[in-house]
Amino acid sequence: MGLFCLICQARASGNDTYDNHTLIRLYPTSDDNLQAASHFEDPSGEVEVLKESRGLNDTLDLLVPPQKLQFVEDYAKIKNLKLEVKQPNYGRTLEDVAERTPRRRLLKSFNIYEYNSYANMLEFMETVARRFPDLVTLQNLGKSYEGRKMNLVKISSNPNAGNPIIFVDGGIHGREWVAPAMALYLIHRLSSEPANRRSGGELDGVDWYILPLVNPDGYEYTRSSKSNRMWRKTRSKHTENDCYGVDGNRNYGFKWGVSGISHDPCHKETFAGPRPFSEPETQMVRNVMMDNKKNMKLYVSLHSYGQYLVYPWGYTGEILPKEWKRLDNMARVVSQAVVKAGGLPFKVMSAGKWYPAAGGSDDFAFGGAGIPYSYTMELTDGYEFTFPESRLRNTLPTFYEGFKSFGSQIKKEFGHQ
Ligand code: ARG
Ligand code: ZN
Repeated sequence: MGLFCLICQARASGNDTYDNHTLIRLYPTSDDNLQAASHFEDPSGEVEVLKESRGLNDTLDLLVPPQKLQFVEDYAKIKNLKLEVKQPNYGRTLEDVAERTPRRRLLKSFNIYEYNSYANMLEFMETVARRFPDLVTLQNLGKSYEGRKMNLVKISSNPNAGNPIIFVDGGIHGREWVAPAMALYLIHRLSSEPANRRSGGELDGVDWYILPLVNPDGYEYTRSSKSNRMWRKTRSKHTENDCYGVDGNRNYGFKWGVSGISHDPCHKETFAGPRPFSEPETQMVRNVMMDNKKNMKLYVSLHSYGQYLVYPWGYTGEILPKEWKRLDNMARVVSQAVVKAGGLPFKVMSAGKWYPAAGGSDDFAFGGAGIPYSYTMELTDGYEFTFPESRLRNTLPTFYEGFKSFGSQIKKEFGHQ
């Protein structure tokens, strides 16, 4: 083992490096094998389900160790699922990122088109607030489970006007790096362009509240080459055994636990927590909603991946809220704006139609806090959780056009002229 081989070290200490793993995508081909794609299970636990299939047109993505390739191929054959090898050596993609991380920390200058550390993000927010004091204020919401400071960034050209508020958060799932990157980019664009403040601009008559990284503990965990790039949950501990973390997006107190969750603290993906709002991180987001519910008109939670823009209900695919049409319309207009800027269209539907999962922040915002427009936005398609850093420069601006569209639609419906 070479002295500077971070990955070797990780491997020696038995952590998940996904060395020689294959990323395999299985497609259900008809209603008959839908079950097989949504209920895949490897009894040995060696195959990791990256993403379950939740219906026709939705894929099952698996991270398969070499000794399990045959098993998965046989499974696909027997169940008649279409199989595609997406990445032959998944560990390699992760290696690049993990090894670059420590070097980054030494760099002083901040680049908005990079995947930044939590520390860099904090510094960025503080710098922006210092540079535009009449526009940007930080509200300290408290601390994450591991003690990281959580700052809400408020951008407003007239904080006392009682403007409609748009609340955007990102990064509730650790591995979804493009989400906090987009949230920071939104802060950057909104605050730094003088035209935004003028009449008709993005800040004229609308206030923006942005919490870029809801789950800093999980995020930092995915950045360390000694741990797991594919970590999703928080890093709290609710059990005697060696299992960590809660799925923040199953932890909100609205229809908590009724679908798409696990009650097993050791479940790597969707453990809903011992009780609703067991996590300090979800409590803080809830408080932002409840403290501002009078003026808060839109909530958008940034995730990755798949290029979906979904609205309540998420806990069920059986019913839609009676207001679903206006939720659907607003999302379609946003999607068009992104396409016009050269981005991919969003798949627009209710979250539960995509796949039911309860305890999401979108359902709580809508059903619990009474925010009239609420969405989960799944950014990017085609790169799973490792959207290449080199593509941020071209991609983030397309999403920004979507947010401009959100802003003008909210202003039109709720702004006081
Ligand atoms: N990928 C997101 C998750 O699994 C989608 C959430 C959509 N909203 C919902 N309430 N199910 O957390
Ligand atoms: Zn997510």
